[in-house]
Amino acid sequence: MLKRKHLTGIAELERREIESILESAESMKEILHRDIKKVPTLRGKTIVNLFFEPSTRTRTSFEIAGKRLSADVINFSASGSSLSKGETLKDTVKNIEAMVVDAIVVRHSSEGVPHYMTTFCKASVINAGDGKHEHPTQALLDAFTIKEKKGKVEGLNVAIVGDIAHSRVARSNILALKKLKANPIVVGPPTMMPLYTDALGVERAGSVDEVLDDADVIMMLRIQKERMKSPLFPSLREYSRFFGLNAEKLKKAKPDVIVMHPGPVNWGVELSPDVMEFERNVILDQVTNGVAVRMAILYLLLST
Ligand code: CP
Repeated sequence: MLKRKHLTGIAELERREIESILESAESMKEILHRDIKKVPTLRGKTIVNLFFEPSTRTRTSFEIAGKRLSADVINFSASGSSLSKGETLKDTVKNIEAMVVDAIVVRHSSEGVPHYMTTFCKASVINAGDGKHEHPTQALLDAFTIKEKKGKVEGLNVAIVGDIAHSRVARSNILALKKLKANPIVVGPPTMMPLYTDALGVERAGSVDEVLDDADVIMMLRIQKERMKSPLFPSLREYSRFFGLNAEKLKKAKPDVIVMHPGPVNWGVELSPDVMEFERNVILDQVTNGVAVRMAILYLLLST
């Protein structure tokens, strides 16, 4: 079990907690491939998905994860709720909690919302992405996928490419990779580089070409236009030339390199469509592993 009630970020996790989640996710993945993909572990527990931002993978995989463990899972949609009548976030959360629920999985555009909820929620709060702050369950499923495909995480060179400054996936991955003793390297235009990577001693590179020789893992990111006030690069064509990946560039990479992306992918921008056919593109494996890792997290936080 995790000795904590909430999961709001990788920053708060110790290495042994990350390792426990990854170990537990291995058992959960085996359940996903059974004929009857359901165990009674969380029977009687209620999980609410409270998403204030769009999601395909995270919301659906939390729902499937809860159902595989026999929990009741309710999806709250901000559009169509009483938020449109002026109800506050706090009132919304307190009213949902008053229906006696065990966990709230929350995604919000504002940094710190999951942490704020822990100050008044009795239910477990799980961060499914808060602004450009953290997306801890994405980093955990990414670490699980790296371990599954490469046999280890420690010592690997992981190039994280793209809009680092606006990406909660980048921050959570950098924190997780550092805790697991891998070497994250950030690659992107200077306008998309945050200051915190320097404070963490993370290496920088100025183009994908610079990291192809050494990278064991290439993690591509989407440009987070929704979090930018104005364009931060001259043209998409120029961005793709320096920070996009295609089959031709991959010929220069290590023979066992894997290509990752948290999704959604903007094909033709950060990834050329020919990378779809690349045999070590593990993007859909990440999605499958997302269910196993979220099952592990729900189990470790909620089972008594
Ligand atoms: N990776 C990720 O968070 O995808 P969604 O936005 O579809 O949940």
